[in-house]
Amino acid sequence: MSANIASRLLEHYRAHARDLPWRAVPGAVRMSPYRVWLSEVMLQQTTVATVAPRFARFVERWPSVAALAAADETEVLHEWAGLGYYARARNLVACARAVAARGGFPETEEGLRALPGVGTYTAAAIAAIAFGRRAVVIDTNVERVVARLHGLDRPIVEARGEIRVMADALTPALDAGDYAQGMMDLGATICRPKAPRCGECPLRADCAAFASGTPEAFPAPKVRKSRPHRTGTAWWTERNGALWLVRRPAKVLLGGMAALPGDEWGDAPVTGHALASVAHGFTHFTLDLAIIARAEPVGQGWWQPLDTIAEAGLPTLYRYAIEAVLARRSDLYAA
Ligand code: ADE
Repeated sequence: MSANIASRLLEHYRAHARDLPWRAVPGAVRMSPYRVWLSEVMLQQTTVATVAPRFARFVERWPSVAALAAADETEVLHEWAGLGYYARARNLVACARAVAARGGFPETEEGLRALPGVGTYTAAAIAAIAFGRRAVVIDTNVERVVARLHGLDRPIVEARGEIRVMADALTPALDAGDYAQGMMDLGATICRPKAPRCGECPLRADCAAFASGTPEAFPAPKVRKSRPHRTGTAWWTERNGALWLVRRPAKVLLGGMAALPGDEWGDAPVTGHALASVAHGFTHFTLDLAIIARAEPVGQGWWQPLDTIAEAGLPTLYRYAIEAVLARRSDLYAA
């Protein structure tokens, strides 16, 4: 059954692969490991739709791993703005430098895993997609597809080991790169979490979840823990049409990114009149950020003209915060 599943999946992928800028035509010459690595890092926690234009811009600016190795880290963080999880951007530069120093990407999963920021998933994806090696590539989409095929009715977090064994058994010896991408595409476009399109699925004949009649019930949903809530204040200091921005310290969340100055985020209620507030969800907590006017600039920073604010490399939280203040202001003028 497994060989049959892989060959049907490959056939489906070759006919329906999504046309993505980091992808080679299925079965044709492979993409460079640089492009595969970069796209896989960008795609961790960020959607295909968001990544596609950003990937194109990034490789235009730094077309090779050697070019990226020579880049200034601040410029890379700037280019990364809006993609989130900024530790990835810092690791990206460290990894490019390690690869350039050793004269190219290692081809084995083990060698790849030794690079900064390259974990089990990324190493397997590069080994399979860039180097054509058999590697078991498991992301959240693949976990769901495999869990459904086997009718696994426990939450995925409780069955990771089992899912890996099942995924390994399904992975073919050849074409592991196309197979991995086909599984990820299947999870993203057909075997979707809430409304799977089983009518279009090449694997439904072998799928226990489909046979059950309620495929969307598999795997069991994860038990959600509520995230802690934090509050914070950001300072709005404006002069002659320019806003005072600072760079966040390296070791904190959003480290190294441009930001409004502010206090540390905690659980104290915000005091003072806020020009605007924004709510933002991070992975491990939610944040209400109040933006409060302040006459004097705080910390080491620079005056960023408001009409070039889009070029400041601000992460989403601060971009939204600034937009919220400006939107309030234009409402007042309009009123
Ligand atoms: N998600 C992450 N990497 C992917 C890839 N190479 N193809 C499809 N979806 C993905």
